[in-house]
Amino acid sequence: MADKLQQNAIVSNQKRSASDEHDHPDDFTLAKKPTKHHLIWEDPAAALANVRHEFGEHGGVNMSIEASAAFTVMEPEILSRMFAGELGPDRDFFIYSRHFNPTVLNLGRLMAALEGTEAAYCTSSGMSAIASVMLQLCSSGDHVVASRSLYGGTHALLTHFLPRTSNITTSFVDIRDFDMVNEAIVEGKTKVLYFESISNPTLTVSNIPELCRIAHDKGVTVVVDNTFAPMVLSPARLGADVVVHSISKYISGGADVIAGAVCGPASLVNSMMDLRQGALMLLGPTMNAKVAFELSERLPHLGLRMKEHCNRALIFATRMTNLGLKVIYPGLENHPDNAILKSMANKDYGYGGILCLDMGTEERANSLMNVLQNCTQFGFMAVSLGYYETLMSCSGSSTSSEMNNQEKELAGISPGLIRMSVGYNGTLEQKWSQLEKALSEMH
Ligand SMILES: Cc1ncc(COP(=O)(O)O)c(C=O)c1O
Repeated sequence: MADKLQQNAIVSNQKRSASDEHDHPDDFTLAKKPTKHHLIWEDPAAALANVRHEFGEHGGVNMSIEASAAFTVMEPEILSRMFAGELGPDRDFFIYSRHFNPTVLNLGRLMAALEGTEAAYCTSSGMSAIASVMLQLCSSGDHVVASRSLYGGTHALLTHFLPRTSNITTSFVDIRDFDMVNEAIVEGKTKVLYFESISNPTLTVSNIPELCRIAHDKGVTVVVDNTFAPMVLSPARLGADVVVHSISKYISGGADVIAGAVCGPASLVNSMMDLRQGALMLLGPTMNAKVAFELSERLPHLGLRMKEHCNRALIFATRMTNLGLKVIYPGLENHPDNAILKSMANKDYGYGGILCLDMGTEERANSLMNVLQNCTQFGFMAVSLGYYETLMSCSGSSTSSEMNNQEKELAGISPGLIRMSVGYNGTLEQKWSQLEKALSEMH
């Protein structure tokens, strides 16, 4: 152990010289190459625990934060060799933190382990991760097939922003209708099939293996937003090529950070960092090293948090259904995607921490949320999710308001739909009695 600490301190203190070149094969990518083993199920918590532990410069149990924007070199020619792509982060050579930064790279390693991908890199927001991936994978004139049921910002990116700025167009489909997905793909022109593992806010669960089969048959890359289901689902293990995250939600868990990640093959991550053609390098949605440090301290307890979010969501959804309320929760047997979710889910995490309650009208939804926040202290009226407090919003008039009425109807977003991100603070029975009391006041 002392040797390991010593070694680590030496490596991190040492100024690299070109003659020091030796392989650190797991510095950039996640040590693992995509082998058959890659497809074998592995508990994401076990995968996270297997990532090389970074000690601090002085032997601290936590890694040091590499807060530098720029990195020095011992010999002048190293700089030009780095710019030529001969020396890079895989050998511990860094240039500038809009390109690779060691602390952000470490969080990327954790994200790659979480999702079972070869590599990952983190960004300043979920939207920047999504936009950068789309711009990397598609060129002007290319086409995307996407689920109708997506987070409002992603829907707006695909509907309005990408066609205007980049001539990248999207056909929206019912992601449960495989014929429709198949027919929407234009061979040679469609580059990406895009969907959410569990959709925001309607909680449609995508059949990831089947959708990947359809897309891969036609040479289309599958990009899955797994923001709603970290730990619960592992889309890359089910066939997806790229997994994107809004880390701002469950992975952060603190409702205090905006961040995102792109998880996928090392070739994709490297191409996104290319000095001439890389969307991350050239658009610059860079994550700050201090933020990366904070987030890497939260990933080890993501699994514990997800279990309790999911446990409480299932109990509340079951009890509210028994009260005769219209509840949407994919962990309930009456949900159309319950069987497919159960067949894909990682063992013992549950079926998601979000549930939806359809109150019929926006007025009734607003009045329930008002009582829940201001009278019974059940939770807060706020967008976002994954916080330890319960957060509630009426999706149609908030996080999906970018969609027009027809788009909302097609996505199944009714005006009275309350999205609840079920928190884990307090005791379960304390929170249930607050919820029950508010519901009883609605009749
Ligand atoms: C499913 C989903 N993807 C992406 C995003 C965008 O993430 P961010 O707010 O971190 O940019 C959100 C945000 O609400 C989301 O819910």
